[in-house]
Amino acid sequence: MFKLGRNDKCWCGSGRKYKQCHERIDEEILLPLKKQGYKIPDKSLILNAEQIDGIRKSAAVSIKIMDELDGFIKEGISTEQINELVDRLTAEAGAIPATLNYNGFPKSCCTSINNVICHGIPSDKDILKNGDIINVDITTILNGYYSDMSRMYMIGDVSENAKKLVKVTKECMEEGIKAIKPYEPVGNIGNVINDIADEYGYGVVRALCGHGVGLDFHSEPTVEHFRTKAKTMIMVPGMVFTVEPMINEGSFSCKVLDDDWTVVTRDNSLSAQWEHTVLVTENGYEILTL
Ligand code: MF3
Ligand code: CO
Ligand code: CO
Repeated sequence: MFKLGRNDKCWCGSGRKYKQCHERIDEEILLPLKKQGYKIPDKSLILNAEQIDGIRKSAAVSIKIMDELDGFIKEGISTEQINELVDRLTAEAGAIPATLNYNGFPKSCCTSINNVICHGIPSDKDILKNGDIINVDITTILNGYYSDMSRMYMIGDVSENAKKLVKVTKECMEEGIKAIKPYEPVGNIGNVINDIADEYGYGVVRALCGHGVGLDFHSEPTVEHFRTKAKTMIMVPGMVFTVEPMINEGSFSCKVLDDDWTVVTRDNSLSAQWEHTVLVTENGYEILTL
């Protein structure tokens, strides 16, 4: 931890003197946790009011797009049509879809059907049919600020087991988010999620995790959705990250298809995912994509 004069302006950009702002937290809370072996976030991960406001505005665009999708997604449409709608609505909002050309990803959202865990590529060949479950994941860049969210959709008459998986996965996300408390380790989130998944015999995907978001698409911290005893990063007010559990009806294990993107369950079982972008606050958290 670097040393700042007590009368200097605080590193956080509040304009207050360090001794009246973050000094006590740095010295009395974070330093002891660091000595216990926990990871302490770099100052660059603690966002200021202006940055948070930028992410909030980006999130408002993401929410608006997802709400439109709620009324659009139904049997008979292709995932390419979903992509086109996301693409158009994002442009109309003066924003950019973060996934387009991201490490070569060719589309403006991810569409992951049934046994696809995540990163499904929209295609005019993939037509939604009765009984499908699908996750649509969108990430919006507005004025340089990123917001990341996804929802599940059930097409027509969906089996009871699929309905249960979708519902429990949402509960995993929500309860995981409720575990967000300042000055606690981020690993608490995955511990809560894994407990719920275990009750149902579901697998928690380990290969893909939540992530810091806001100024970049993917940054620290890594938000694991599975149980860990590791000393993970401490959550500090002003951090923004996603909680996005991927829950499989069967085993957690997955593989990537030949397109180098689509992640599927190895045992071909169904998979569901929900995602929110969340801000750590002084008292707990605020879901920005709600
Ligand atoms: N939106 C995904 C996430 O939640 C990332 C998609 S990257 C892509 O982190 F390239 F596959 F689109
Ligand atoms: Co994400
Ligand atoms: Co996402």
